[in-house]
Amino acid sequence: MSKLVLFLMLSVAGISAENGSFINLNNSSGDVTLGNSLFNITFHKNGKAQSVYKNNVNLIDNISKNSQTWYLDWDGGKGYFHPSKYEVIEDSSEKVHFRFIQEASLGNLNIEFHLVVLSNVSGLYQYIKVSNPTNATIGLGEFRTVYRFDHNLMPKVTNIVESGITPNLTGRPTIQDTTWQLADGTYWSKYDFCGYIRETPWFGVYGGGFGGWIISASREYHSGGPLKQDLLVHHDSLMANYFHSGHFGTPGLEAPPGWSKFYGPYLVYINTGSEKQVREGVAKQALIEQARWPYSWLVDKEYPQTRGSVYGEVEGQTKAMVVVYSSIEQEFDLQTLGYLYHEETDVNGRFIINNIRPGSYQIVAYPLAGQASENVARKNISIIAGENQNIGSLFLPEPTNILWSLGETNRKSSEYRYSDEHRSFYWHFVPPANQTFTIGSSRVDKDWYYAQTRTPGTWSIAYNDKFDNKNRTLRVAFAAASKSSVSDPALTAAIDIEVNGHQVGHFAYENDKTIYRDALQSGNFHPEKMTVPARQIVNGQNVISFNLLRGMVMYDAISLASE
Ligand SMILES: *[C@@H]1O[C@H](CO)[C@@H](O)[C@H](O)[C@H]1NC(C)=O
Ligand SMILES: *[C@@H]1O[C@H](CO)[C@@H](O)[C@H](O)[C@H]1NC(C)=O
Ligand SMILES: *[C@@H]1O[C@H](CO)[C@@H](O)[C@H](O)[C@H]1NC(C)=O
Ligand SMILES: *[C@@H]1O[C@H](CO)[C@@H](O)[C@H](O)[C@H]1NC(C)=O
Ligand SMILES: *[C@@H]1O[C@H](CO)[C@@H](O)[C@H](O)[C@H]1NC(C)=O
Ligand SMILES: *[C@@H]1O[C@H](CO)[C@@H](O)[C@H](O)[C@H]1NC(C)=O
Ligand SMILES: *[C@@H]1O[C@H](CO)[C@@H](O)[C@H](O)[C@H]1NC(C)=O
Ligand SMILES: *[C@@H]1O[C@H](CO)[C@@H](O)[C@H](O)[C@H]1NC(C)=O
Ligand SMILES: *[C@@H]1O[C@H](CO)[C@@H](O)[C@H](O)[C@H]1NC(C)=O
Ligand SMILES: *[C@@H]1O[C@H](CO)[C@@H](O)[C@H](O)[C@H]1NC(C)=O
Ligand SMILES: *[C@@H]1O[C@H](CO)[C@@H](O)[C@H](O)[C@H]1NC(C)=O
Repeated sequence: MSKLVLFLMLSVAGISAENGSFINLNNSSGDVTLGNSLFNITFHKNGKAQSVYKNNVNLIDNISKNSQTWYLDWDGGKGYFHPSKYEVIEDSSEKVHFRFIQEASLGNLNIEFHLVVLSNVSGLYQYIKVSNPTNATIGLGEFRTVYRFDHNLMPKVTNIVESGITPNLTGRPTIQDTTWQLADGTYWSKYDFCGYIRETPWFGVYGGGFGGWIISASREYHSGGPLKQDLLVHHDSLMANYFHSGHFGTPGLEAPPGWSKFYGPYLVYINTGSEKQVREGVAKQALIEQARWPYSWLVDKEYPQTRGSVYGEVEGQTKAMVVVYSSIEQEFDLQTLGYLYHEETDVNGRFIINNIRPGSYQIVAYPLAGQASENVARKNISIIAGENQNIGSLFLPEPTNILWSLGETNRKSSEYRYSDEHRSFYWHFVPPANQTFTIGSSRVDKDWYYAQTRTPGTWSIAYNDKFDNKNRTLRVAFAAASKSSVSDPALTAAIDIEVNGHQVGHFAYENDKTIYRDALQSGNFHPEKMTVPARQIVNGQNVISFNLLRGMVMYDAISLASE
C-alpha cells in the first residue's frame, strides 16, 4: 500500500472519528471557531464572522475584509454590538454553545448573543437575550442580524415569493433610498424583496452550488402582527433577520427599565447543490425545524420548554384572524415588547394556537371577510404550561342591509388591480388621478386600483339610490396610508370623502412608509365608519367621492349600508 493511499485512508477515518460539534477559542486573538464535520465558522471577538467554510469553500471570502458580515446591529448600522466578554458555555460532541456579551451601561441594553452548533446540522443556531437593567427607557429604531455572502459566488436572493440577481447598478441614478432606475426604465430596490415575515419560514442567498438561509421555526419574538412586513434579502447577496424595525409602519423599540426579551433561536443554514436542490433542501429543513420547536437542546429558564395552547371559535364572521400577544399595553399590530402568535380560523370559525409561552396575554380576533372592517373582539387570557384551554367564543357581528360593496375586509388591498403584482417601486405611478367606478358595471379587479396615489385627484363611486328618509352607513377601510415619497416633508396622508358634494369624512394619517416602498397589499390599517344623513341621498345616481389631499392611501374594503 502506497504512503499516499494510507494517508488518504487515515484522513477519511480521521474525519469520521472527529464527527460531532467542536469549538476552538483562541485566547490570544479572541477568535472562536465552531462547527462540525458539515461546516465551520470563525468569529472575531467583535462578534463578526471571519470565515464560513462549507466543502472547503469560504462563503464569505472577498467581503469580510471590506464589509462586515454575520453581525448584530441596531438603528440601521448606527449601533453595533460591541461585546466586552465571551464565554464557552458547552463543549461536547453533541453540542457546542458560545456567547458574546455586551454589558448594559447608561443608554445601552444588556445583550447576550448566543451561538449553538449541533453535531449533525449544517448551520449555526443563534439567539439573543436582551434586557434593560438600567433605570431609563432605552430606544432602538431597529434590531437585526445581517449576513453577507460572496456575491460572485452566490449571486441570487429569494424571499420565497420571488428570486433574482442584482442587476448592474453602477452609474444608475438613485431614485430614493436604495432604489435605482435601470437603463430600460424599470427599477431595482432593496424593498422589492421584502415580505410578510410571518409567512416566510425561510429565505436567503444562493448560487454557485451553495445556499445560505435563515430558517425561523417560530416568529413569536418578532415585532408587529400577522401582517408585519420587513426586509429579508437585499442586493449584493445579503440577508437580514429583523426582530423589529420602523419599516412598513411599525414603531421602534422603547425598552422600559426591567424589560427583557428572548429573540430566537433561528437557524442560519448552509447547504450545497444545484439551485433547485438548495431551495428544496432548505424548504425541507424548515419543516424539520418547525417540528422540533420548541428546541429541546435549549436549556434556559427564559425559554420555556413546556408551552400552552388555546382553542375556541369565532362567531358571526367566521373567517377571521386570531392573534395572541403578550404586551397588551401596545396594540397587537404595533407591538414590540412581547411575544405574538396567530392563526386563521378554519371554515367553521374554529382555531387552535399551540406552543405559546406561559404567561398573560390578550387574544384578539378580526375579520378576514365581510364588511365589518372596524370589528375587533378581545379577551384577556392566561396561558398555562401544559394546558390546552378552551377560551370559548369571540364574536364578530356582520352588518346587515349592505347595498353594495367593493372588496371584503381582510386588512389588505387584495381584490384590487395591481395588488397581486410583484413588489416594485413602479406600481404606485400607474393608478389614475381621477376615475369613476360604477356599481353594477365596473369590476373591482380592473376598475379599482390597490392605491390612490396622485394629488390632486378624485376617485368616485356612482350608484343608484332613492331618498327613503333613512340614513346610510358608509364604511371605508384603508389598508395603508403613506406620504407621497420618501422625501415628502408632509409626513401624512389626508383624504376627504363626500356624498353628492357633502363632506361625510376627513381623515389624516401618519405616514406608514409602505406605498412608496413597494408595498402593494398593506401597511397600517385604518377602518372608518361614517353616517350619511338621509337628506343627502337623492333619487337616481348618487356619487361618493374620495378626494386625495396629501400622500397616498391603499384600500381594503368599501361598503354602503342602509339602516
Ligand atoms: C461523519 O461525517 C461525514 C461527512 O459529513 C459523513 O459522511 C459520515 O456519515 C459521518 N459519520 C457519522 C458516524 O456520523
Ligand atoms: C482559554 O481560556 C479559557 C478560559 O480562561 C480556558 O478555560 C481555556 O483553557 C483557554 N484555552 C487555551 C487553549 O488556552
Ligand atoms: C491565536 O491567535 C494568535 C494571535 O492572532 C495567532 O498568532 C495564533 O496563531 C492563533 N492560534 C491558533 C491556534 O490559531
Ligand atoms: C473548517 O472547514 C474547512 C474545510 O471546509 C477545513 O479546512 C478547516 O480545517 C475547518 N476548520 C476547523 C477549525 O476545523
Ligand atoms: C476571492 O477572490 C480571490 C482573488 O480574486 C479569488 O482567488 C477567490 O477565488 C475568491 N473567492 C471566492 C470564494 O470566490
Ligand atoms: C441530529 O441529532 C439529533 C439528536 O441526536 C436527532 O434527533 C436528529 O434526528 C439528528 N438530525 C439529523 C438531520 O440527522
Ligand atoms: C438612574 O441611575 C443613574 C446612574 O446610576 C442615577 O444617576 C440616576 O439618578 C438614576 N435616575 C433615577 C430616576 O433613578
Ligand atoms: C456595470 O455598468 C457600468 C456602467 O455602465 C460598466 O462600466 C460596467 O462594466 C458594468 N459592469 C459589469 C460587470 O457589467
Ligand atoms: C385586559 O387587561 C387590561 C389591563 O388590565 C385592561 O386594561 C383591559 O381593559 C383588559 N381587556 C379586556 C378585553 O378585558
Ligand atoms: C384630476 O382632477 C383634478 C380636479 O378635477 C384636476 O385638477 C387634475 O388635473 C386631474 N388630473 C388628471 C391627471 O387628469
Ligand atoms: C341620521 O343621522 C343623523 C346625524 O347625521 C342623526 O342625527 C339621526 O338621528 C340619524 N337618524 C336615524 C334614524 O338614526
